[in-house]
Amino acid sequence: MQVSIFEVGARDGLQNEAAVSTQDKVTLINGLADAGVRRIEAASFVSPKWVPQMADSATVMDQIARKPDVQYSALTPNLKGLEAALAADADEVAIFGSASEAFSQKNINCSIEESIARFKPVMELAKEHNLPVRGYVSCALGCPYEGEVAISEVTRVTELLHNMGCYEVSLGDTIGVGTPKKAKAMLEAVAQTVPVEKLALHFHDTYGQALANIQACLETGISTFDSSVAGLGGCPYAKGASGNLATEDLIYMLHGMGLHTDIDLEQLAHVGQKICKALGRTNGSKVAKALLG
Ligand code: HMG
Ligand code: MG
Repeated sequence: MQVSIFEVGARDGLQNEAAVSTQDKVTLINGLADAGVRRIEAASFVSPKWVPQMADSATVMDQIARKPDVQYSALTPNLKGLEAALAADADEVAIFGSASEAFSQKNINCSIEESIARFKPVMELAKEHNLPVRGYVSCALGCPYEGEVAISEVTRVTELLHNMGCYEVSLGDTIGVGTPKKAKAMLEAVAQTVPVEKLALHFHDTYGQALANIQACLETGISTFDSSVAGLGGCPYAKGASGNLATEDLIYMLHGMGLHTDIDLEQLAHVGQKICKALGRTNGSKVAKALLG
């Protein structure tokens, strides 16, 4: 069976890093595509006052060597973001909401209901341009400000994004606090309302549970996973959130289970090592460390 990997390292991974050159971002994205990654979140058209690390997104999109079979995606919190993504010729965009009120306020400066209202014109303009829109629901397994988050809220916000026209909704364990039984119960509950084929998992690995959580969730039939090369990542508005699950570790497990991706693991490990070197950071992927010695 084929599984789909949505690589978020160039966005989620780098939005938290102090100083990354545009050239290093471009090299990373091109390297990911060369290693066989087909879905790459390459940019984030958010306010540069909120996330200065992503302020060069338009230049990044302009300078990457586009491959026709790769989807280059961008975050767009509002119409201004979408207009920038359209100008940059993004292949798809993503709106991002939250199942936690407090996180919604801290991350996008509005309530959940206000965010849904703000996303409506984004969906409409995207539709006019035939641009696919992905949705994110943060805090699906816990919130850095509120702690426990009700599964009913995760389901409600996921359904709202799905009904608005998001072709896929990614469920974020923003601070990586989930454990396998809980992750599976959350996914099963959401999948009763939104078909599992329309869902993705976006697990940060702060507590080292992401692989175990994904393994437990595989039983529901889910086949799309967000991950980050070398385990880069974190959210500037979720203190303590470490990187996403490392793509190399995820692929090693999935390939070992007989599931397929078109990604060359060894080549990907080199791409991850290169960006870690540029960042002066140790590689967050155990598999990459093992492969590269
Ligand atoms: P706001 O301050 O309420 O917005 O921020 P505003 O409309 O009042 O605008 C304020 C200023 O920002 C204005 O500039 C706007 O023009 C500008 P000024 O007039 O003061 O010079 N502005 C923009 N500039 C460029 N692009 C834009 C844009 N929008 C406004 N799109 C806003 C609201 C949503 C913009 C802000 O809160 C924001 O940018 N938040 C983004 C935070 C963020 O990027 N977080 C990380 C990504 S989410 C994440 O990591 C979670 C995820 O990985 C899933 C998971 O792990 O759970 C996806
Ligand atoms: Mg994230």
